[in-house]
Amino acid sequence: MGRQGSMALLAFTLFGLLSSVKADSIGYGYNLVGLDDLNNGGGVVGYLELVKATETYGADVKNLKLVARYRGSDRLQVHISDADSKRYEVPQELLPRDPVDSFKANRKLFGRLKVEKSGVISSKKNQLEFHYVAEPFGFAVVRRSNGEVLWNTSAPGSGLFNNIIFKDQYLEISSQLPYKSALYGLGESSRPDGLRLSHNRQYTMWATDIGSWNIDIDLYGVFPFLVDVREGGLTHGVAIMNSNGMDIVYNDTSITFKIIGGVFDFYFFSGPAPIAVVDQYTQLVGRPAAMPYWVLGFHQSRYGYNNVEQLDYVMKKYAEVNLPVESMWSDIDHMDHYKDFTLDPVNYPVDKLLPFVQNLHKNHQKFIMILDPGIKIDTNYSTYVRGDKLDIFMRNGTSHRYVAQVWPGATNIPDFLHPKSQEFWSTEVAEFHKVIPFDGLWLDMNEPANFCGGPTCYFPPGIQTCPQIDECCMICDNTNLNRWDDPPYHINSLGIHRPLYAHTMAMNCEHFNGIRAYDTHNVYGMSEGLATYRALKELTGKRPFVLARSMFLGSGSYAAHWTGDNGATWGDLQYSVVSIINLGLFGVPMVGADICGFNFQTNEELCIRWTQVGAFYPFSRDHSDIHAGPQEFYLWESVTETARSVFSWRYRLLPFLYTLMFGAHKTGAPIFRPLFFAVPEDSRTWDIADQFTLGTDLLVSPVLQQGQVTVNAYFPQGVWYNLFNPSQVVRANNSFHTLDAPLDTINAHVRSGSILPLQDLAPTTTQARKTPYTLLIAMDPESDSFNAPSAICDRRSKATGELFIDDDDTISMQVKDGAGSLVTFEATRKDGVYVLKADVEEGAYAVKQGLMLQTVSVLGVRTAPNSVKVNGKYEAVNVTFDNKASYLTLTDLNLPIGKDFEVSWDCSGSDAFTS
Ligand code: NOJ
Repeated sequence: MGRQGSMALLAFTLFGLLSSVKADSIGYGYNLVGLDDLNNGGGVVGYLELVKATETYGADVKNLKLVARYRGSDRLQVHISDADSKRYEVPQELLPRDPVDSFKANRKLFGRLKVEKSGVISSKKNQLEFHYVAEPFGFAVVRRSNGEVLWNTSAPGSGLFNNIIFKDQYLEISSQLPYKSALYGLGESSRPDGLRLSHNRQYTMWATDIGSWNIDIDLYGVFPFLVDVREGGLTHGVAIMNSNGMDIVYNDTSITFKIIGGVFDFYFFSGPAPIAVVDQYTQLVGRPAAMPYWVLGFHQSRYGYNNVEQLDYVMKKYAEVNLPVESMWSDIDHMDHYKDFTLDPVNYPVDKLLPFVQNLHKNHQKFIMILDPGIKIDTNYSTYVRGDKLDIFMRNGTSHRYVAQVWPGATNIPDFLHPKSQEFWSTEVAEFHKVIPFDGLWLDMNEPANFCGGPTCYFPPGIQTCPQIDECCMICDNTNLNRWDDPPYHINSLGIHRPLYAHTMAMNCEHFNGIRAYDTHNVYGMSEGLATYRALKELTGKRPFVLARSMFLGSGSYAAHWTGDNGATWGDLQYSVVSIINLGLFGVPMVGADICGFNFQTNEELCIRWTQVGAFYPFSRDHSDIHAGPQEFYLWESVTETARSVFSWRYRLLPFLYTLMFGAHKTGAPIFRPLFFAVPEDSRTWDIADQFTLGTDLLVSPVLQQGQVTVNAYFPQGVWYNLFNPSQVVRANNSFHTLDAPLDTINAHVRSGSILPLQDLAPTTTQARKTPYTLLIAMDPESDSFNAPSAICDRRSKATGELFIDDDDTISMQVKDGAGSLVTFEATRKDGVYVLKADVEEGAYAVKQGLMLQTVSVLGVRTAPNSVKVNGKYEAVNVTFDNKASYLTLTDLNLPIGKDFEVSWDCSGSDAFTS
């Protein structure tokens, strides 16, 4: 524990708060009246007393408990709750974390640690400091290294916002922010404004079943997590662990959280690099799940494949035009009257579907099936009968099962917090897997969606299914709304402050333990996702694959995500880049958008451009709506050609992408990153929303607008080689460059200084991962260094890279226990002599697979070598040299990937050969 006492630094901003209270205030705040050290050091517990009661939005909670707690060197938690009774918090079983329950705050705290007018509670080990003022209570978070105020809940005299307000159904807190802060995050929504959050906007956190082609409104997932880049590039993060509905209002110089329940549970992450923020955040909420290798392949899907023959036809067409396709997805079309875990006996009979799936498996392809949470109420339906018997469905306020209308008609909604729900779900998944051995599950409609909405809804007598499957035909009585469906404060869902029950289950629905949907709505999808992940894990004992729509903080630790029902428009193509970057920040690196667009009819030009971008999405899937026409890549020759070109590179890049996935799994590092990750200190990167990098080494600058044939792309300092044509080089100085981008071209550049592990293109990832490896080594061009003044450049250059491989069955990605191998590559050049070294950690797995490095391709070479040594001995390897592209290739190396090696070649001689 560090110093505690008055502090000059913030005094002028934090003092004089009482005078700032507005006459019409809906809350007068609390006074800090007691403080104590946490038993284990590293923070304080405090006791707050209400200054003066108000009745707006309900009665105030009288006494609050404050816990300010440091964790390690980079995290500070500030937790504020009712001191006298327990309140709802995000369930520990969904998101395990250190509870604060054991710390007691009451009047006995008086005098244990002196409460000053203002004070600082710091920990020497931590980069952040917690500052407070006592009357009325406010706190600030300060970066220790430069004294910068990152968060400040007090705004004396500014009249900007209220003091802390804490009522049963309304919590409010605000922080000052510099006008120039670059803020990111707060999902999920489609953002025409770009990546950076816009001033004077509200971000509503409410899981909503509405197409992502609708802009600037609350969509499927809920991620109350912010990344804040400050002048100079120092970055920090702020998450609030609260699953209640909330509006987050971002004004020019402040941010206000208006929350309808739960507690304040803020986590501040010190960064200071953007990637460090995501590391620190995912350490709290859970590291991204390992994904099976095949997830990186290209996936084909459609709502509206009417029968098994159509699935078969589509797969055959892809094969005919020689495009790799990894999997076929099955939407609700396969279901018998849209019931989960069933097959339509006419169009998807098991005796046709099973051979189709077996054939996919024979071809190393996969089959993924959709699930919706609503279980049709039908006593002849075995899934319903088993659920009924275990009694695991949500109940409404009168203790009857809640009835929602989804595709199959009247459904009950499983309570995934019920102790027996796992047994129920695991059984259903396992039983269905016996019928069709699917490879992964796709969780849709799990906000959860309801085509009706209201506290009590029922079907008119004799009716159980509706004429229109997606239109409400139940009768709902919404006259006497309870305080859960109609709370005192209405969040701005869909921008219309609609009732909370709208399009989902009623808010007074209860879980088995009495917790209400009012509190858990935003984590419902998470509860289903975790149950599904566990069911698959139990079933196969292998690494599961789950794709989920509704998510919450930490959902990346069990599932991948797609951005939902986008539209086939140029705008949607643009939002896809922003949404995918955002999901990476939220700890969900395996994410993609429906390529060519889901809703509306796509067109050739859009589909070409979308295919180019989609080939670089971490999760790459073409999916379309039943009301839109088909859009498989083979339908237009131009799209086929484009797909062939970009996906041949995606498949070659699979080892690189899988190694990025490994990095994400270990540290949270997003695969698909914004430019401000690369150069946070250059404020011009803060607004770039039309470019991205994969890891640090591949920069993609796509065309996202109709008719556009050039791009003005930012390049971080250094030399960048065009991936598709390495003779085209960009020499950049954190500068913008105009590049040609005709319709058949996407600009993707490899960073000089990087080594990318590659394999060969093959029809599937299973086959591709057995092909020999190539290392693509991008060095600074030797010719540059020869021309440069010697004082600046001594002709040295260095490149590094990594390769992770494993069996992809093991639940986590790891090198221990022989489950995987990690190889670090380093290539150096000094005076024309190149040395490439491989340093292997746990090579056993790679050696057992017999994986070989055959080729080394080096960019930036001035002359061909006159000799090549492998592990110290001269070897007659095959050498080709492309003078124009400065591109050297050494082949037939035959080096086992699981063993250390050294390859060197000497390009310094004048009698070198060229070809
Ligand atoms: C909505 C999903 O977002 C979409 O992908 C799916 O095709 C339809 N539901 C039908 O299941």
